[in-house]
Amino acid sequence: MSTNLLAGKRGVIFGALDDKSIAWKVAERCVEEGATITLTNAPVALRMGGIQELGKKLNAEVIPADATSEADLEKLFGESQEILGGKIDFVLHAIGMSLNVRKNRTYTDLKYEWMQKTFDISAISFHKVMQQLYKMDAMSEWGSIVALSYIAAQRTFPDYSEMAESKALLESFARSFGYHFAEKKVRVNTISQSPTVTTAGSGIKGFQEFFDYADKMSPLGNASAEACADYCVTMFSDLTRMVTMQNLYHDGGFSNMGMSPKLLEE
Ligand SMILES: NC(=O)c1ccc[n+]([C@@H]2O[C@H](COP(=O)([O-])OP(=O)(O)OC[C@H]3O[C@@H](n4cnc5c(N)ncnc54)[C@H](O)[C@@H]3O)[C@@H](O)[C@H]2O)c1
Repeated sequence: MSTNLLAGKRGVIFGALDDKSIAWKVAERCVEEGATITLTNAPVALRMGGIQELGKKLNAEVIPADATSEADLEKLFGESQEILGGKIDFVLHAIGMSLNVRKNRTYTDLKYEWMQKTFDISAISFHKVMQQLYKMDAMSEWGSIVALSYIAAQRTFPDYSEMAESKALLESFARSFGYHFAEKKVRVNTISQSPTVTTAGSGIKGFQEFFDYADKMSPLGNASAEACADYCVTMFSDLTRMVTMQNLYHDGGFSNMGMSPKLLEE
């Protein structure tokens, strides 16, 4: 159901790989709510996934950009402003990748070269995105920047490995850059989402068991990708103008639970 909450707004959405991606659902919901957007992903992902199909469906230009490359980001935000016809009102950073997780290295035997790459892709890219937007003065007043995070930034989830530190760094960048972007009346937040069945999510060891556990631990159950898209829409809308520098849990209540009778009953 559309309430035209984003009518007239221009957005850039990172991270839609396939129709399971959280960013895919966010892109669909934003357009449904009246926004015009550009879509972007790493060049390799453009070849693999179905993002072109999404672009056609949403009438959105797809612009390749490796989020770790400052030159790619400058080009992306320049072209996006031209295509969309003005400054950018909202940006979604939905990027995560860990080489150590992908290659099944245990936490006590991590390869540091890969760890640096993981931090660069999953967290430092968020700073690069914001720094580029800031320097280019590409965000509109009362614009909104959101990145997706996970509660492993605060608590220990052993199989999440070095992605935990990536998310802690990501959330810290949101607070620190949120301060500077406030001068331009732009807000910056992270949304800490429930486990969600996607390519990045399912890459974590024992994901299905963990998904089921979190579902039972959360009084409202796990939040779906569609529900996350709804939440992102509110964060991009004018109804949340004074929310900034926050990590916002979108997890069916998981983060405030201590023990769950539902789990004990089993
Ligand atoms: N799935 C979950 O359980 C879950 C839970 C909480 C938070 N998140 C976060 O949500 C975000 C989106 O992940 P998802 O679960 O939708 O999975 P996904 O695999 O669909 O999305 C991850 C995206 O990152 C992109 N990416 C990787 N390297 C890149 C680079 N160098 N430049 C640009 N893009 C690059 C991939 O191409 C892909 O589109 C991630 O930040 C993830 O950590 C996911």
